[in-house]
Parts: sequence; structure tokens; C-alpha cells
Amino acid sequence: MPFDEYMAACLYDPDDGFFSAGPLRSGKTGDFVTSPEISPWFGRLIGRWAKRFSPLVEQGEMARAMRGSEGATRVLIEVGAGSGALLVPLIAEAGGVFGEVYAVEMSSAARSRIADQNPTANVVASLDEIPEGVDAVLVANEVLDNMPAALARRSDDGWMEIGVGVDGGDLRLTEMPAREEVIEWCDEVFGDVPVGTVVTVQLAVAEWISSVFERFGRVSLCLIDYGAPAEELAGRGVESVVRTYRGHQTGFDWLQHPGDTDITVDVNLDGVTMAIARAGGTVRVINQNDFLVEQGANELIERARRDERETAGAGEIMDQLKARSERIDLEALIDPTGFGAFTVSLVE
Ligand SMILES: C[S@@+](CC[C@H](N)C(=O)[O-])C[C@H]1O[C@@H](n2cnc3c(N)ncnc32)[C@H](O)[C@@H]1O
Repeated sequence: MPFDEYMAACLYDPDDGFFSAGPLRSGKTGDFVTSPEISPWFGRLIGRWAKRFSPLVEQGEMARAMRGSEGATRVLIEVGAGSGALLVPLIAEAGGVFGEVYAVEMSSAARSRIADQNPTANVVASLDEIPEGVDAVLVANEVLDNMPAALARRSDDGWMEIGVGVDGGDLRLTEMPAREEVIEWCDEVFGDVPVGTVVTVQLAVAEWISSVFERFGRVSLCLIDYGAPAEELAGRGVESVVRTYRGHQTGFDWLQHPGDTDITVDVNLDGVTMAIARAGGTVRVINQNDFLVEQGANELIERARRDERETAGAGEIMDQLKARSERIDLEALIDPTGFGAFTVSLVE
């Protein structure tokens, strides 16, 4: 089968998928830690960005708080909300200025946790459960990288797909003729690359972006992931293109243990830009450091530093430790060699 089908089955099979059927995966006790798990300020700062698109803030009229500019309701949506660590502070910061808040999650364990923590949010399994035609402000952190991607390799005769086959009872990677849509995507996003180049083909990301624009009225997006332009992604081997996370370790054998590990790929920013442009949107891509600094991260760090000094001077050890830990967590979110290097694709 093509690799994207294999990835979809491993992550989202209703009975055995790593996300759909397993326990809650994100968090310090789960399999990986993401920015929202580091500090609630991540959700708060995204909330500051989101608030700009609330009709209440945009138009300054109470009467239009629940209605968009064309008369449609404007809703705040988090897709792939995981443990809810982003949603809780996002709602605290911005929930009050939107008509409704939705959390969309394919994992049933995650949906239960989110619903318990956020009684005011509508927790759903798919975008199809949100009314069509509403204006949407949509946030997704580390979700596009978990959408099934195909793998392709440039051969002497054009693009071949890398799929998963059975050999002597074991699953193995195998080459197969590329599907039309894969060839089209590769030609458009990668163009001419040297023979042997392996690439990920993010058809599911493109389809998801187009469904967002089709379903909703006015769309504002904040999509955060580790990603890179096509040129930077081309030319790596399958081992570095496809990554796994299980129990905070990488390098799990995803071919021999389907469904037992997270499978993730770097997001191709040119593919995202192309899909948004096709849907009629314009994207601004910056890194997480710049995005959070735009929302006021440096001022928060400065305030925590001042609190740390003042509480230290007053001998208030517990408060000093609290301020210090808040500062360190904020610094981790904007660290240019870590989370700060993630990319943020914005449709504003
Ligand atoms: C790596 S986790 C990130 C969780 C959370 N956003 C965070 O930052 O901690 C990816 C999550 O996205 C969910 N997911 C993937 N594709 C999705 C989709 N199309 N719709 C809703 N949820 C999705 C998975 O079930 C998983 O919980």
C-alpha cells in the first residue's frame, strides 16, 4: 500500500490506531511534549493573536459580538487539541469574544480529556460537525505533521512511490508506480530534482486546507509545525524524513510495530502555501520565536525576570521559584534552537 495509507492506518485506524484508539498521547506522562505542555502562555499568546479576528474587537460593537461581518457567526476552533493544554488558556484569553469554541480531535481519549476540562467548548471528531458557512479562526499546533503523507523517489523515469509491502511475513518498504495525484504534487512543489531524491507528498494536508476554505466563510489560520521549504526537505533519506515518538524516544521501528508509535513528517511549507493559494488565501510564514514575540513574549519574560529579582530581594523563595520557572518556560517557547524554530503559517 502507498505510505500515506499505511501512516493513516497506523495513526487513525478505529481499533488499533496510535491516536484514535490509544490512550492520551501528548504530555509529560505520554509520548511527546509540545509547546502547550511547556507553558500555558503559549495558548494565551495565540489567544491574543486570535482575538484580533473577533468581530467584537474588530468592529468594537457589542451588538455584533456573535455575528461576523457578513452576518455569519464567527467561531474559534482548535484542531488536533490533544490534551487540551492549548485550549484551556486559549479560551481563557479569547473564548469570551467568539460566538462558539470548538475542539476537533480524532483521538477519543483526547476528546474525553478536553471535554472534562472545557465544559464551554464543543468537542467534536471532525470539521464536518461544525456548522457550514460560519467564519472560522482556526488554530492547529503540531497537527499537519501527523496528517498522512505519501513518499516518493525521483527515478530515471520520473517519480516512483515508496510504499509498504510484505516480504516473508515482514513489512518492508517497496517501490511502486506513482499515482497521478502524487506525480502532479511532486512536479508542482519540487519541480526538477536529482535522481534518487526522496520526498514527502502531503496530499492530506492539501485536501484538509481546501476543505477548511470550502466549509467556512471567512478563514483565519494559525498553523504551527516543524516544517521547511521544499528545497530544504528534498534530498534526505526515508529515515530522516519519517520520524517516530514513543515514550519521549525517537527511532522506534515503525515498520515492525504498526500502530504502536507516533509517525510524523516535516511539513512542506511550499505545499502549505500552494494549498492556501489555491483556496484563495494568502499566507505569511514566520517562525515561532517571531510569532510569540509579536504577541508580547519578551514583555512577559521581562516581567517574570523583574518578579524574580523582587521576590528574591524580599526573601520570598517560593514566589521567586515560580517567577523563575515561568521565565524559563517562556524562554523555551521562543528558543531559536528549539520550539522557537518551528514555523507558523498565518492566514490573517
Ligand atoms: C502531535 S499531536 C498534537 C496535540 C496538540 N495540538 C499539542 O500541541 O499538544 C497531534 C494531534 O492531532 C490529532 N489530529 C491529527 N489529524 C487530525 C485531524 N484531521 N482532525 C483532528 N485531529 C487531528 C491527533 O489525534 C493528535 O491528537
